[in-house]
Amino acid sequence: MAPLLDKRLILVTGKGGVGKSSVAAALGLLAARRGKRTIVCEVAQQERISSAFRREGVGHSETELRERLFAISLDPELTMKEYLRRQVRPALLHELLLDSRLFQYLAAATPGLRELLAMGKVWELAQLERRTAGAAPYDLVIVDAPASGHSVGMLQTPSTFREVARVGPIRRQADKIDAFVRDPEQTGVVAVALPEEMPVSETLELEATLRDELGVAVDVVVANGLYPERFSTAEAERIEQANGSHPVAAVRAALGAAAAEHHRARGQRAQLRRLRRGARAPVVTLPYLFEPELRLDSFERLAAELGRKL
Ligand SMILES: Nc1ncnc2c1ncn2[C@@H]1O[C@H](COP(=O)(O)OP(=O)(O)OP(=O)(O)O)[C@@H](O)[C@H]1O
Ligand SMILES: [Mg+2]
Repeated sequence: MAPLLDKRLILVTGKGGVGKSSVAAALGLLAARRGKRTIVCEVAQQERISSAFRREGVGHSETELRERLFAISLDPELTMKEYLRRQVRPALLHELLLDSRLFQYLAAATPGLRELLAMGKVWELAQLERRTAGAAPYDLVIVDAPASGHSVGMLQTPSTFREVARVGPIRRQADKIDAFVRDPEQTGVVAVALPEEMPVSETLELEATLRDELGVAVDVVVANGLYPERFSTAEAERIEQANGSHPVAAVRAALGAAAAEHHRARGQRAQLRRLRRGARAPVVTLPYLFEPELRLDSFERLAAELGRKL
């Protein structure tokens, strides 16, 4: 299997809120720094927009953020319109299908349509010969995929559509996309997890589902948001003892916070061990950053950390 950053497409997946967008951004920065022309592609679900790149004003067009690093936030409806503009010949039908109420209707009536369109666009971005006129090729496309269940759906739809459309252009395209996402030389999967009980279980399940149902292996599991272990066991015991008895309220509060953080860091280590035992893929960790809001600079720190481990 090719090293992760040497592939052409990387899907970053995991449960809601575990840090998928942050990890996708960090991977993007790392790949760009290593000389790859990279695009981080957010697959928006309904109205949600990128939290990682919102400040940079990234929308449904390829936007350059740093040297060699681009981002795009895919809007399913606009993706559909682009597709139709290329595929549907009769102008009248084309106009009709561009009606946004009709899109909503069609999307609701065709399970997996949004996912297929998203996969089609992502695949198009990853091609060295781009269909979009004048578009320059990328070395690497990093997909900030929707939460786990939807990601499995996204990977599955091309093969589902292959079954439905037995002949014709949709079939041919679905075949190509399906072969591409199942080829471990071209496509990689990064599963992001929090080192906590439920998220670890869900990550192990996700790895098994991808393997059993799609024959796709997870390349790397990223355990995100690891708290530092600041105190030894002996120190933690002293903190616990002093905690209840200290005469000054502010000191009691500080000791309480320290004790709680220590407890959390310990719990995370135990879950991390469980994750490492259960996962087939290697597990790398990212620290919890004590910042009110993560920005590009914070993603740089995560990128440097990943760079040491990937
Ligand atoms: N290592 C970290 N340290 C501190 N905060 C983090 C870290 N990783 C992510 N966060 C914060 O946690 C929140 C969720 O992260 P992010 O948006 O990357 O998750 P997500 O999996 O993409 O979420 P969603 O499923 O909603 O798209 C954000 O506020 C982000 O800034
Ligand atoms: Mg996200």
